[in-house]
Amino acid sequence: MLHTIGTDLHIHVLPGIDDGSRSIEESKSIITQHYQSGIRRIIATPHIRSDFFLNTKASILAAFNSVVETASKDWPDLEISFAAEYFADDHFVELLERREILPLFDNKVLVETSMRLEQPFFKQILRKMIDLGWKPVLAHPERYRPWWNTRTIYDEIYEMGAIFQVNLLSLAGKYGPKQQEVAERLIMEDKIGAVGSDLHRSSQYADVLKATESPYFTQLSERPLLNRNELG
Ligand SMILES: [Fe+2]
Repeated sequence: MLHTIGTDLHIHVLPGIDDGSRSIEESKSIITQHYQSGIRRIIATPHIRSDFFLNTKASILAAFNSVVETASKDWPDLEISFAAEYFADDHFVELLERREILPLFDNKVLVETSMRLEQPFFKQILRKMIDLGWKPVLAHPERYRPWWNTRTIYDEIYEMGAIFQVNLLSLAGKYGPKQQEVAERLIMEDKIGAVGSDLHRSSQYADVLKATESPYFTQLSERPLLNRNELG
C-alpha cells in the first residue's frame, strides 16, 4: 500500500483542466482510492504546456477549489495543495523569467520534456531553472524514448542536480516493458528521489496497486524520498 510514501506529488486529479480527471466525481473516486491506500497528502499537478494545456494559476485554482471543498469535508486529515507539471517549452521559460512558477513546495518544480522527440534545449532550460534558484523534479525519466539509447543523459541530468521522479504506473508495466526496465534500473542505481502516481483516470487505480507489489517499490520505500519532506 501507499502509506510508506504518504504523499502523491504528481497526479492529474483536478477536473476538466487537462487530460486528467474529467469530472468532480472522477476526482472524488481517485481521492477515495488514494486515501484508502494510505495517501494523506496530495499535490495536484495539472499540465502547463503552451501547445495543449495553457493553464494559469487562476484556472488551476478554480478547479482546485471545486475539489478541496469536498476533500476537507470527506477526508479531514488529507492535505491537498496544487502545483503544476511544466512542459519545458518557451512558455515555461517566459514563466521562469516572470517568476510565475507554481512549485510543488519550497523551490521544487515538477518539469517534463517530450517523450518522443529529442528536445535540444532541455538541458539549457534545466540549467536556467537551477541558476534562478529552482530545484527541478524531473517527471518520469523512464518515459523519454529518445534517452533510452543515450544513457549518459541520465547521468548528466542527475549530476546537474535534478531529482528524478519515477511513476508508479511504470513499475506496473503500464506504459510498456522498456519504461518498466528503465524505471527499475534507475531505482537499482539509487537515482530516484521521488515517486508519483501520474494518475489521469480513476480506472488506472488497479495498476497503482499492482505497482506496490513490485520489489522495486519496496526498495524505493526504504529510501529518503522527497515525498516524505515536510511542506515548506
Ligand atoms: Fe503527468
